Amino acid sequence: MLRVSGPTLVLWVHLVAACIWIGGQVTVAAIIPLLRDQRELARRVGRRYQAVAWPAFAVLIVTGVVNVGNAGLHWSQLLDSSAGRTLVVKLVLVALSGLAAGVHSFLQAPRRGHASDGSAVGSAVLGSISLVAALLAALYGVAIAGA
Ligand code: HEM
Repeated sequence: MLRVSGPTLVLWVHLVAACIWIGGQVTVAAIIPLLRDQRELARRVGRRYQAVAWPAFAVLIVTGVVNVGNAGLHWSQLLDSSAGRTLVVKLVLVALSGLAAGVHSFLQAPRRGHASDGSAVGSAVLGSISLVAALLAALYGVAIAGA
């Protein structure tokens, strides 16, 4: 049987956190439209999601930094290898995913007292940006791991 090493454990935690960050967004996107008439419940679902999602995002960053070392990449020489350049693109996508989710969670959603169609569209756009960016970040993560 294969040995479960330290780097394997860190990568596993990274993957589980990615499942929570991405899977949570998909689940919330599927549920929230059903709660259009129950705004308070929709708000509570959103808050519960955030209580799980942001710790997962923090775990992704911490384990991601450890992965970088475990993958033999060096921060000062990222642009010198194709894996390093892929990581740079991945980090831009991670930042975009976190930024779009953050603007929605902390700036836009709290202001949606009386949700209008316009702000619902804004939420959908920000949520989609965050999800697509996270999916692409995961794709480039798999590419780096397979390189
Ligand atoms: C939205 C945030 C993120 C998502 C969804 C994500 C997702 C993933 C996934 C799915 C893998 C593939 C694991 C595998 O195939 O075994 C991976 C690998 C990797 N991730 Fe992330 N990741 C995120 C953030 C980060 C951050 C912030 C960093 C660096 C600071 C990072 C660095 C890495 C590295 C270096 C690998 C390759 C590990 C290896 O070669 O063993 N990730 N990531």
